Amino acid sequence: MSHALEELRRIAEKVGTPFWIYDAEVIRQRIADVRYLTDGEGLQARFAMKACPATRVLREMQRAGIWIDAVSGNEVLRALGAGHAAGNRPPVVCFTADVFRDNALRVVLENGILPNIGSAGMIRDLAQAGYRGPVSIRVNPGFGHGHVNACDTGGPSSKHGVWFEDLERTASEVEAAGMSVVMLHAHIGSGPQFEELHDNLSRLAEEYAQLIGRFPAVEAVSLGGGIPHNYRDAHAKVPLERLRALFVECRAKLVEAAGRPLRLEIEPGRYYVAPGCSLVTRVTDLKETRSNAKGQGVRFAMVDAGFVDLVRPAMYGSYHRIEVVGKEDAPTAGELVVAGPLCESGDIFTRDDAELLVPRALPEVEAGDLLRICDAGAYGYAMSSNYNSIGRAPQVWMEEGGRAELISRRESLEDLLKAEVSEVLG
Ligand code: LLP
Repeated sequence: MSHALEELRRIAEKVGTPFWIYDAEVIRQRIADVRYLTDGEGLQARFAMKACPATRVLREMQRAGIWIDAVSGNEVLRALGAGHAAGNRPPVVCFTADVFRDNALRVVLENGILPNIGSAGMIRDLAQAGYRGPVSIRVNPGFGHGHVNACDTGGPSSKHGVWFEDLERTASEVEAAGMSVVMLHAHIGSGPQFEELHDNLSRLAEEYAQLIGRFPAVEAVSLGGGIPHNYRDAHAKVPLERLRALFVECRAKLVEAAGRPLRLEIEPGRYYVAPGCSLVTRVTDLKETRSNAKGQGVRFAMVDAGFVDLVRPAMYGSYHRIEVVGKEDAPTAGELVVAGPLCESGDIFTRDDAELLVPRALPEVEAGDLLRICDAGAYGYAMSSNYNSIGRAPQVWMEEGGRAELISRRESLEDLLKAEVSEVLG
């Protein structure tokens, strides 16, 4: 992301700070990468839209022929609103969850969305609602890897999916309820190291190949998401050729084992969008603490963004590169802790999963400077909150060629109070 200083200043004057800025070109490149990965017979990519549900992004996916993995009724409705097709022939939008909550069951039924069930209780819910259509089963294969334990979605500690040894029983329950299993699915970790991902995906396809004979109605197998993004090195690249070869090989193995054509799906989230958006924040002050018996003093760069905007550092200790806008090539001038406005000592952007404060070497920083917190497109705005009644920051879409467009405005107090009511419940 290299939006020039003047441009970011101009946008900051118009929409205030902090704000999110998307780079259409970067997102389109990542979409092209995934299209390359799935450019082969019987291969289909989805977008796990939880990573970034902005309508503008969903439309880019729709135009590129990328299908959707949704996790709530409202995500399904957002995808349909952005132009993705309803129905399960083909299942352009798939609903993957372990629980039907709020409007999810109704939205799935009304729009003919393929439910990817992660718990047997969902069969009961579907049956009670009169559903007799196709379902997918999400399996926990007993192994997996994520960038932290909280993002490891395969193994005994994971709440996701149906444990692999219970798959056949669950499939029988599906059949007994008058439904049929048309897809087997597993997502076994978000953002692992590439080699872990590669090994796990090939092991997964191997295990599915052993099972597939027992599922005559299965039309597709999904290997889930998890293609990593390197947050530390802007130039690092995922070996796409190897990954593509793996998908082609996995599909061939499954088709051979099944004795019929099958679709192999993947559903990355992070990979499409992580580098395609930055959080731009203003330095409001510099201050320091001094060393004493309790610990070492540090210098703080106080900024106006906090974990209400980007929660990944506070929640997982995730690393995001930070650039001082206009001083990208300047030498480093000292180590700073970058901290936000929230009434929480953990409102820190420079930390890791073991330490609360990990000072970052940055060029000379002054109050008024803009900082770019990079690679914030995945699970950035999507996980932002209204804690401290601050309201979500605006999102700006930077089109190729440089036209900036506001795609969501800053939330106001009225927005925050909109759902407050005073209704007597008896
Ligand atoms: N499919 C399913 C069923 C998922 O649950 C997820 C992510 C994905 C695909 C996409 O995974 P990805 O390709 O983005 O790694 N908030 C965390 C990540 C949580 C991921 C949850 N599920 C983070 O900020 O790292």
